[in-house]
Amino acid sequence: MKYIEVEFCLEPLQIYSEILQSDLCDIGFESFMDTFEGFLAYCQEGLYSEKEFKLLIARFIELNPEVDISTKIKEIEQQDWNAEWEKSYPAVLINDFCYVHASFHEPIKEVEYNIEISPKMSFGTAHHPTTFQIIQLLQNEDVRGKDVMDMGSGTGVLAILTKMKGASYVEAIDNDEWAFNNAKENIDRNNSEIVVRYGDADLLDRDYDIFIANINRNILLQDISKYANHIRKNGVLFLSGFYTNDVDMLVEEAGKYGFDLDIQLSKENWAALRLIKNK
Ligand SMILES: C[S@@+](CC[C@H](N)C(=O)[O-])C[C@H]1O[C@@H](n2cnc3c(N)ncnc32)[C@H](O)[C@@H]1O
Repeated sequence: MKYIEVEFCLEPLQIYSEILQSDLCDIGFESFMDTFEGFLAYCQEGLYSEKEFKLLIARFIELNPEVDISTKIKEIEQQDWNAEWEKSYPAVLINDFCYVHASFHEPIKEVEYNIEISPKMSFGTAHHPTTFQIIQLLQNEDVRGKDVMDMGSGTGVLAILTKMKGASYVEAIDNDEWAFNNAKENIDRNNSEIVVRYGDADLLDRDYDIFIANINRNILLQDISKYANHIRKNGVLFLSGFYTNDVDMLVEEAGKYGFDLDIQLSKENWAALRLIKNK
């Protein structure tokens, strides 16, 4: 059986790729594979309608004019999807300190923290520069005995890492049901003890020494005040999910709630910040 493969590039990627994938399911697309710039979508040739596809793209552009979208379509033979996916899914090694891998990769003995992730559709496999950089920042963070919040936890990888590094209490929150379930699965896989909750900043009901939020610029600008109410004096706030150009905006907003910028990282134009609460 032949398949139609469509390669999507989207900018911005977050949110819109989920919307688009759900629309594509309605016209017969059955599987998706994330890439750095978007995703690959697959549809059986017999179920594919060029007319429906073009209409869908036109409607998406009309509803979301702020998104840059490009597509490349090709016909491919049926393949062993799992094998293809495994080939295209490399594990990620961060500074010989943390190895984020899938079940089909062998852990590396010499690396301090091996984290096994079942990535599915959730964000948080360390391939993305935002996750990668927060892991870099966590390498030098003494989390032992501390209370940690991972807001927008995706796969739960950051929460799992802080627990492995000796945090005493770790909580993970995500407002996406799929990510919430995936984080629970990954936490079990890594024999970790983390409280996972489905929701957003409105769930916050205790205080933390370390607060991580890798989400996106607008959500962070909207919710920093809520985070601030639950971060102890001298506590640390890690932020990511936005471009280097947006750093000043985020630092200014965080400054209103008593945060001073301590470290700024940048990778492929994505930023990650470590801020300290001075009150
Ligand atoms: C960029 S991913 C980060 C995932 C993971 N923490 C990492 O660093 O790789 C952002 C996550 O935040 C979640 N999210 C988006 N808006 C949110 C909100 N308002 N509150 C909590 N989670 C949110 C998304 O569902 C997604 O899983």
